[in-house]
Amino acid sequence: MPARRKEWFDDESFWRDLYPFMFPPQRFKDAIDDAKKVLALARPRGRAALDLCCGPGRYSLALARGRFSVTGVDRTKFLLDKARARARRAGLQIEWVRQDMRDFLRPEAFDLALSMFTSFGYFDDKKEDAVVLHNIFKSLRPGGVLAMELAGKEPLAKIFQPTTSQTLPDGSQLVQRHQIFDDWTRVRNEWTLVRKGRAKSFRFHHTIYSGQELKERLEGAGFRDVRLYGDLDGGEYGIDATRLVAVARKGTRRSSRRR
Ligand SMILES: C[S@@+](CC[C@H](N)C(=O)[O-])C[C@H]1O[C@@H](n2cnc3c(N)ncnc32)[C@H](O)[C@@H]1O
Repeated sequence: MPARRKEWFDDESFWRDLYPFMFPPQRFKDAIDDAKKVLALARPRGRAALDLCCGPGRYSLALARGRFSVTGVDRTKFLLDKARARARRAGLQIEWVRQDMRDFLRPEAFDLALSMFTSFGYFDDKKEDAVVLHNIFKSLRPGGVLAMELAGKEPLAKIFQPTTSQTLPDGSQLVQRHQIFDDWTRVRNEWTLVRKGRAKSFRFHHTIYSGQELKERLEGAGFRDVRLYGDLDGGEYGIDATRLVAVARKGTRRSSRRR
């Protein structure tokens, strides 16, 4: 990977320590149904799929079970190893690539690209988000489709609480502190995990996109027919949405000529 200044997501221990909280067994089960919902919204024309920031492979495995030919890309070795082991146990053939999302580019290789579970908006330099979208656009075949699912700014503004606390299934306590900064464009999070009387804190931040901001970013990368939804069932996006879901298409060669 090219040398870059280290950012929070480069720290493997962040993903390792939070793995039980981020990826409990139920989340893997949910992804089976959620993948079907994504396919119903995105309606890809072919079966070559890119799961960008695939993590432990929740969606990669679900798509491979649905006879998609899947490439899972992620920069975190710990998570890719989890994904690889799961695929092996399930007898599924999936291509795993350890690469930064800013660098992955495979021209006109995919019919479908996924970016799921808030895997976008991580970079200190917001222009790098645009690089990611451009690379996805180039990696899609004409007529290909991108589906993204992330936390949206509008619903966050409605439910925002500076501090929340919850007890996890293993009895440990997770205290989350959030702070909005940079003119309401980013959220800074501090998660403190208290387990058996010992506390460990994790800090991370990311850009929060409104529906319109994400749409403009996608159109800026060349996508057309960008549709926003408030959940994977295709509900309306707005202040009461649970998520920000975007489905964006790359024009076919014929439709691009007509432009
Ligand atoms: C919240 S997890 C989501 C994982 C997966 N999409 C899912 O739905 O389970 C975010 C993922 O992004 C990956 N990631 C973070 N920064 C990255 C980067 N710069 N390039 C590639 N992957 C990255 C992490 O390793 C992690 O797997």
